[in-house]
Amino acid sequence: MIQSVKGMHDLLPDESEHMRRVGTVVTEALSAFGYREICLPLLESAELFSRSLGEATDIVEKEMYVFEDQGGDRLALRPEGTAGCVRAGLEHGLLRTDARHRLWYSGAFFRRERPQKGRYRQFRQVGAEAFGFAGPDLDAELITAAALAWERLGIAGGLTLRLNTLGDAASRSRYREALVAYLAKNESRLDDNARKRIHTNPLRVLDSKDERTIETLSDAPRLPEYLDEESAQHFAALKSLLAASGVAFEEDERLVRGLDYYTRTVFEWVAPGAGAQNAVCAGGRYDSLVEMLGGPAVPAAGFAVGLERVAALVAPAEASVSGRADAYVVAVGEAAKRAAHRLAADLRRAFPGRCIVVHCGGGGFRAQMKCADKSGAAVALLLGDDELERGVVTLKPLRDGGEQLQLPAEQVGERLSTIIPAPGIPAKAGTRPG
Ligand code: HAM
Repeated sequence: MIQSVKGMHDLLPDESEHMRRVGTVVTEALSAFGYREICLPLLESAELFSRSLGEATDIVEKEMYVFEDQGGDRLALRPEGTAGCVRAGLEHGLLRTDARHRLWYSGAFFRRERPQKGRYRQFRQVGAEAFGFAGPDLDAELITAAALAWERLGIAGGLTLRLNTLGDAASRSRYREALVAYLAKNESRLDDNARKRIHTNPLRVLDSKDERTIETLSDAPRLPEYLDEESAQHFAALKSLLAASGVAFEEDERLVRGLDYYTRTVFEWVAPGAGAQNAVCAGGRYDSLVEMLGGPAVPAAGFAVGLERVAALVAPAEASVSGRADAYVVAVGEAAKRAAHRLAADLRRAFPGRCIVVHCGGGGFRAQMKCADKSGAAVALLLGDDELERGVVTLKPLRDGGEQLQLPAEQVGERLSTIIPAPGIPAKAGTRPG
């Protein structure tokens, strides 16, 4: 039997519903801050990512799904959304010097990492990107929007916000120089991975999980000591805005992030105790990226939420909602079946958003009633020869032990609205008899 590709997983209906619910909470939190959806393609030219994320990053070096298509173009399945969002903004003229945009996107991303709990080769993100805002108020806004999502999902208490600033390009390059010199001097006390990174991506050595390397780093030059004055002020203002909004954070001067485009603020929300892959959301400022991709100097910042990781922290809804029928139509006999389909069509028109299931697959009254029971519907609507003859439908409550009754077909909708009420549903739902 053909199996799914390693690291790519199916979401069965209950999981799918849970994931959608979690994603909707995040996107609604962003909408509450004025962010609007942008839909971006899954395929981009591979060069977009090598130019924006950095040649020496893990993603570009070894994790991208890259291939040449039939026309000889070198394409990549998107490993993240920021680069594509900037590309789209530039392509459609959104990123002019004075323009301001708050955008969000959601969907699948691909990285050929080693799969483990919380780390997949296809995963979902909801991302937010804001363009044209240089100040720390925007950084605070992004963080507050994420915090609102955690609050609405009931997971705020289990998450910690780690915060750092990388400074501007010049201060980062001064720091890099000092760090490279230190690492080179202490090369023999580093693990293989760190040694390899000394000249390609030295800041990532700060992220090392290797004990010896961590020990070696204890005397390394510190990023805050190389920070330029403006970045330091930006960071101080951000911290006081967060404090004023009641968002708690931990400063972590070793937080550097795995993508090269960041400048100044970087942050990560982690779920301590959720295992090795415990970052549920990460982002920061990337004031140079628009220019690096050929556009004007437009400041930008954003974040992305890892939906699988967040969904794993959120308790699933007690009962599946979308899969459950509201009313189940049971029909025995050919004429009754036709009437059943007409009745259900009328009811679906009158009850938008409700689930009206007509029994399919044949069987007698008893077998169909079993299915009605299983469907979770509040009420069964029965149609047989007797009902057709008299122009009525039998309403049989399936849950709270209500009375069975027969009604003219045109009154079924009205009655149903008292059994399965929903906001905005017309009280009188006209139905046509069979
Ligand atoms: P990132 O840190 O690479 O940042 O990914 C953001 C989040 O996506 C992670 O914190 C994690 O929750 C989730 N994630 C990443 N890789 C995987 C994986 N293999 N399996 C499951 N979940 C994963 C970015 O992608 C940046 N584009 C964020 C950003 C937006 N920065 C500025 N704007």
